[in-house]
Amino acid sequence: MSHSQFVDSLWAQWRERVDQRLDKLIPTADTTPANLHQAMRYASIGAGKRYRAALVYASGTALGSPEIALDDAACAVELVHAFSLVHDDLPAMDDDDLRRGKASCHRAFDEATAILAGDALQTLAFEILCASDSATPGPEHQLLMLQTLASAAGSQGLAGGQAIDLGLVAQDASVETLITMHRLKTGALIEAAIQMGALTATREPTVLCQLADYARPLGLAFQVIDDILDGTVDTQTLGKPAGADRDKHKPTFLSVLGESESRRYAQSLGEEAIMALDGAAFETAVLIGLAHFTLERSH
Ligand code: IPE
Ligand code: IPE
Ligand code: MG
Ligand code: MG
Ligand code: MG
Repeated sequence: MSHSQFVDSLWAQWRERVDQRLDKLIPTADTTPANLHQAMRYASIGAGKRYRAALVYASGTALGSPEIALDDAACAVELVHAFSLVHDDLPAMDDDDLRRGKASCHRAFDEATAILAGDALQTLAFEILCASDSATPGPEHQLLMLQTLASAAGSQGLAGGQAIDLGLVAQDASVETLITMHRLKTGALIEAAIQMGALTATREPTVLCQLADYARPLGLAFQVIDDILDGTVDTQTLGKPAGADRDKHKPTFLSVLGESESRRYAQSLGEEAIMALDGAAFETAVLIGLAHFTLERSH
């Protein structure tokens, strides 16, 4: 089995674990209010790459945590991500009708239900982390995981980045502004995923810092590639509307730097991420594999 096949097969198992666990954690589709629970399930179960979950499992298992101790953190990060996609697609934000190969949540249901489903997906993430009895080394670790996820989702993380994004439509943007926006709207949650996985095993500052040095360029590279894919890949492959950024005159790495310069930049970020793992006292093969995926992905 090649190295990338090994990462793929692990990742497929992790995807399966997340779907099974989310199916149990989210109230059934006939639980009152049924419409809301259907929308929550629709937006979060059975699709998505589960990239952020894979990062939780990869950093946690690298440090010796068993997968069972990582399921709740992986689901919590994916729930915050799913919430962000539901709200990102709303008419007041990107106004996109397609997500993960099907109608976006507000199209399949209605806008008000999608807003509430996003709210409830986000709070469920924190409820799961609070209730988790899955063998974190102790309540201090659990509190740090909660704080990490909360700050990544907030005004100096995802929500803040989305606010910058909305403010930039049809305006010129410098590369520096794009970097700040991307770090917040996408990088922060990716960084949190890696820290949360690690926190199930350790609070050792040198380990957490080394992983943060890997995560920071990786999170930015993920959104640089997202910008490139928007303008270079078809709708069917993406599972979301191709060319949506261009149609809405959004400044992106593709519009500001062009494709080859943006790819070079993403490549240098990927190298920086991998280099940060040099000399690590833990297993890095899967984390390196995920960095390669981040750059090479086609959707
Ligand atoms: C899309 O994220 C939104 C961004 C932050 C770029 P993903 O590309 O991880 O979307 P899914 O989860 O696979 O659908
Ligand atoms: C993703 O930005 C940011 C969040 C959802 C937080 P995009 O708006 O580029 O994501 P896609 O391309 O719609 O998935
Ligand atoms: Mg957006
Ligand atoms: Mg969008
Ligand atoms: Mg995009």
